[in-house]
Amino acid sequence: MTDRYAVIGNPIGHTKSPAIHAAFAEATGQNMQYEALLAPLDGFAGAVDAFRAAGGRGMNVTLPFKLDAAAYATRLLPAAALAGAVNALMFDGPAAVADNFDGAGLLRDIVANLGCAVRGQRVLLVGAGGAARGALRPFLDHYPAEVVIANRDPGRAAALARETAADGAVSATGFDGLRSLGGFGIVVNATSASLHGAMPDIPASVFGLGCLAYDMVYGKGLTPFLQLAQDAGAARLADGVGMLVEQAAEAFAWWRGVRPDTAAVIARMTVPLA
Ligand code: ATR
Repeated sequence: MTDRYAVIGNPIGHTKSPAIHAAFAEATGQNMQYEALLAPLDGFAGAVDAFRAAGGRGMNVTLPFKLDAAAYATRLLPAAALAGAVNALMFDGPAAVADNFDGAGLLRDIVANLGCAVRGQRVLLVGAGGAARGALRPFLDHYPAEVVIANRDPGRAAALARETAADGAVSATGFDGLRSLGGFGIVVNATSASLHGAMPDIPASVFGLGCLAYDMVYGKGLTPFLQLAQDAGAARLADGVGMLVEQAAEAFAWWRGVRPDTAAVIARMTVPLA
């Protein structure tokens, strides 16, 4: 029987995951099927149970089910526990093992694909929600000089910084406080603002010389955040297409034991920024 995988969410119509995994399966010769699964907002566990009963081996999890998936899992691997959210499940008999590859995908894109070393850099993480939380530890694992978390609601940034205070130089600020902090080598927009054509109200001075400006959304072109970065002279601009493909590759490798090459898929899915 062909092994079945799926991405589960609500809504799910926009998902690129089936196309990405189909490309990986073809390139690696894996006999598998990957579909999009729309679950009722109050019916996550039932939908997953039904998928497993029909031969499902693993799942990606997207909004709004990342916390439901953590509750459903019988075991949380460290990245999922640290992020407080799950984006991948693997089923093994009665076990449902949960992981989160979003942060690993982001760092792999920044370091391996964009060629931007994190070690010794000043990193600015804008946002303090689930996306920022998932990125914070993976950044710290790459030994930056410091990570500053800036959020519209400074209290949320402070709470996130407190959680990781023992793991590196992490501090928190509101957007106003950024004016006195100078330029950063890497600035990541982990807010959901770009999804709505909005942008966090950060000063242009945060984009330091030789800076990488990274917006986690993908396919939105030159978002207001990336436009600000470009106008401020940021050396490199990137959206989240590489992060999306790299987190998919991590999940694929976890499920199938073979790591697919990502360059061709990223190239095919990239929408020009301008
Ligand atoms: P996600 O899981 O995508 O991170 P979330 O947990 O709801 O979603 O967090 C959304 C993040 O985007 C938060 O950091 C939020 O800022 P607040 O904590 O101050 O609400 C941020 N955000 C959303 N819209 C924004 C905007 N227009 N300007 C600045 N920050 C915004």
